[in-house]
Amino acid sequence: MASPTHFLVVVVLLLLGVATTAFSLSPNFYDKVYPQALPAIRKVVEADGSLFTSVVMVHSFWIPHLLSKPRKNARGNLNSVRGFEVVDQIKAEVDRVCGRPVVSCADILAVAARDSVVALGGPTWKVRLGRRDSTRARLDLANTELPSPSLDLPGLLNNFRKQGLNRRDLVALSGAHTLGVSRCSIFRNRIYNATNIDPAFAKQRRATCPRTGGNTNLAPFDSTPAHFDTTYFQDLVNQRGLLTSDQALFNGGSTDELVKTYSSNPDAFWVDFGKAMIRMGNIKPMTGTQGQIRANCRKVNY
Ligand code: HEM
Ligand SMILES: *[C@@H]1O[C@H](CO)[C@@H](O)[C@H](O)[C@H]1NC(C)=O
Repeated sequence: MASPTHFLVVVVLLLLGVATTAFSLSPNFYDKVYPQALPAIRKVVEADGSLFTSVVMVHSFWIPHLLSKPRKNARGNLNSVRGFEVVDQIKAEVDRVCGRPVVSCADILAVAARDSVVALGGPTWKVRLGRRDSTRARLDLANTELPSPSLDLPGLLNNFRKQGLNRRDLVALSGAHTLGVSRCSIFRNRIYNATNIDPAFAKQRRATCPRTGGNTNLAPFDSTPAHFDTTYFQDLVNQRGLLTSDQALFNGGSTDELVKTYSSNPDAFWVDFGKAMIRMGNIKPMTGTQGQIRANCRKVNY
């Protein structure tokens, strides 16, 4: 029998269902009204064509700090100024072709990261869209602790789990370190003290990263930092991971098998990387009428 209470429950459930559907992210979010938006992002990424821009976009999607104040911690400073400039440039172009600010900075970053991976020879995937920007200086993901580069595997798994990401996500997403560089101050301890490191590799890295000084000297994560390939995983198998957190993925633990698989099977890595980027992009997005569409990605609209 349908009592008024039952009826109410059903209505509320229906409304919730509608709300969830209406406000979840979708690959086609801008297609009907602003079909020019996504090609504009790709155009800037491709026209810029610099390795630097592409790498920074991939890094920035993971670290939404870029949209807030650059922090004075060890991580935040690397390339964040140049990162801001690129985002500003993409934002200006997207706003221009759409006639007004309709695409969120969060969506711009998600698409730019994907287009950058493609530009560097990696896989593609359908980016889910419809995110809105925070009305606070810091975005939500930024409030959860970023993993320290000195974490071991249980620490990394725990950090990712807290964000709803699993073991496979951790290994696949860490594969983003197929691109880019790190500073001496961050990997020094490993190259001088670790035992799970190829001695020849340690020696090579010490040549440009002295025991004292040279803190900002850079070294690539893998031997092909400009290519989105599986060299990162091959390096891990050979104990040539740069950060403690990199080598932790191949150190006798539960992720060894997956690292081995990716090292010899680019297709497996491609597929899992795309899936994991989508899963990372789905973490607590603001949608619907939440938040705002920023006019300037560096600051909140007032
Ligand atoms: C698993 C945990 C992770 C840790 C501990 C970590 C740590 C780091 C550190 C310490 C740096 C070097 C920054 C510097 O020297 O200032 C870095 C760079 C980078 N990270 Fe990660 N990262 C992780 C996961 C990720 C993920 C999930 C992505 C993207 C999907 C990513 C993409 C990058 C990129 C592209 C760079 C190079 C930036 C550049 O060369 O400008 N990382 N990461
Ligand atoms: C090596 O480890 C020792 C003991 O933890 C530490 O005091 C030292 O600073 C480390 N060396 C480097 C170069 O990081």
